[in-house]
Amino acid sequence: MKVLVLNGPNLGTLGRREPDVYGTRTLADLEAMVTKHARELGLEVSCRQSNHEGQLIDWIETQGAGSDAILINPGALSHYSLALADALRGSGKPVVEVHISNVFGREPERQRMVTAAAARGVISGLGFDGYLAALDYLARLGGG
Ligand code: DQA
Repeated sequence: MKVLVLNGPNLGTLGRREPDVYGTRTLADLEAMVTKHARELGLEVSCRQSNHEGQLIDWIETQGAGSDAILINPGALSHYSLALADALRGSGKPVVEVHISNVFGREPERQRMVTAAAARGVISGLGFDGYLAALDYLARLGGG
């Protein structure tokens, strides 16, 4: 089973970005954790990060087509991007949305969830472990 793992805007600066909210580990640390856990589950992952909505949509259209599932942290796009929600829905793949922080305990504007409606489910507030939990779910889905 192949899983496309996408991280959206500002997740490339994990480690130095608001460490009190997102921790001190980097995107490279996150992708290493995800890759290791995926291997243990018998999943193949392809990890990408972009600050650009259109780039994320292009990857969903191209890389998503050859994948069995999509794991995405859309960053702030989660709260307003209908275009990204449409791309995720249009992929026809099972999607799990992950947030490092608990968006439901933060500012009211972060509680407007637009892309989440295109996902099977959302994991929010479990830090990097949320990505691992999402992989566990997807592995069970794929019988892996
Ligand atoms: C985030 C939460 C979003 O509200 C924020 O804009 C991010 C990160 C998270 O992982 O907690 O960029 O998606």
